[in-house]
Amino acid sequence: MFITLPHPIFRGNIYAMPNDRLSSTYDLHTVILSNEAVAEAHYLLRCECPEIAQHARPGQFVHVMVSHDTGMLLRRPFTIYTVDGREITMLYQIIGEGTQRLSEMLEGEPIQVLGPLGNTFDFTTRPEPAILVGGGAGIASLMLLAVALRKNDIHTLGLVGAQHHDRLLSVKDLEAIDIEVHVATDDGSIGHHGYVTDILTDLLENTASQGPTVYACGPHAMLSAVAEITADFEVPTQIAMENRMGCAMGVCLGCVCPVRIDTNTIEYQRVCTEGPVFNATDIAWDVS
Ligand SMILES: Cc1cc2nc3c(=O)[nH]c(=O)nc-3n(C[C@H](O)[C@H](O)[C@H](O)COP(=O)(O)OP(=O)(O)OC[C@H]3O[C@@H](n4cnc5c(N)ncnc54)[C@H](O)[C@@H]3O)c2cc1C
Ligand code: FES
Repeated sequence: MFITLPHPIFRGNIYAMPNDRLSSTYDLHTVILSNEAVAEAHYLLRCECPEIAQHARPGQFVHVMVSHDTGMLLRRPFTIYTVDGREITMLYQIIGEGTQRLSEMLEGEPIQVLGPLGNTFDFTTRPEPAILVGGGAGIASLMLLAVALRKNDIHTLGLVGAQHHDRLLSVKDLEAIDIEVHVATDDGSIGHHGYVTDILTDLLENTASQGPTVYACGPHAMLSAVAEITADFEVPTQIAMENRMGCAMGVCLGCVCPVRIDTNTIEYQRVCTEGPVFNATDIAWDVS
């Protein structure tokens, strides 16, 4: 089996990328407008980033410098959750030092936001229906898509999974744009007792022949399960990967994931530039 790595393409500044994806990328110094707990260990941060708001597309993300003071040199990536005029929001889970520090930041504190970054979800085939599958904070990556689908009058269903009731995210936001939401929790404290992928399987039994597309984001194990289920039903599936990142500009290769080019060749592609959205069938789920 051949394994290839992407060529480094950094040419000194981020606007010199060989495609025009970064030509509308901005590194903005801004302040936090609000940063509120919305569920257990999950926060919604709002800030004014007019250029990013103007260019953001479904699935794209920002790279946030949390704090210069604490010596945290690496930025942290978060999907753009919503856009409202000049403002964007990010919905994030506390995972480690960076997100803990972020959750403690108050209205008026400065942050630096680079974006929008990455490729986007595609719905030009007009799926019928579009099925969004979000596990945990993964649902954050699907909200701009949900809005775009509804603006295009595409019938959309939302399947939202959480560990338990207090960690359930985004249900009201999805329902507010007329999306029928089905919930699953690991402990059965609300909705289906089990995995969100159980609901997906049941749904595809009834809808696979209608021309649906599945869009998913969440923990790696959930995404791998989604890919397996939708492959069985032969339903096209787009997955937003959330690998750890360094530069988010295609330089450090810290974010690569294995993509199957043909039966004998795996290519490691950068989630920050070739992704974060991939066709589920392209990812080599059995290769780490
Ligand atoms: C394109 C993209 C979009 C994302 N969007 C969102 C979002 O909208 N909301 C959200 O809550 N999160 C999102 N994430 C994940 C988020 O970036 C990480 O949770 C965050 O960077 C963790 O930072 P930290 O400093 O708190 O944790 P760290 O101190 O860096 O890590 C703590 C622990 O978590 C592990 N870890 C850290 N990041 C990841 C990861 N990405 N995958 C698996 N394990 C990890 C580390 O190995 C470590 O064990 C996204 C990631 C990517 C790549
Ligand atoms: S190449 Fe550096 S994070 Fe993707």
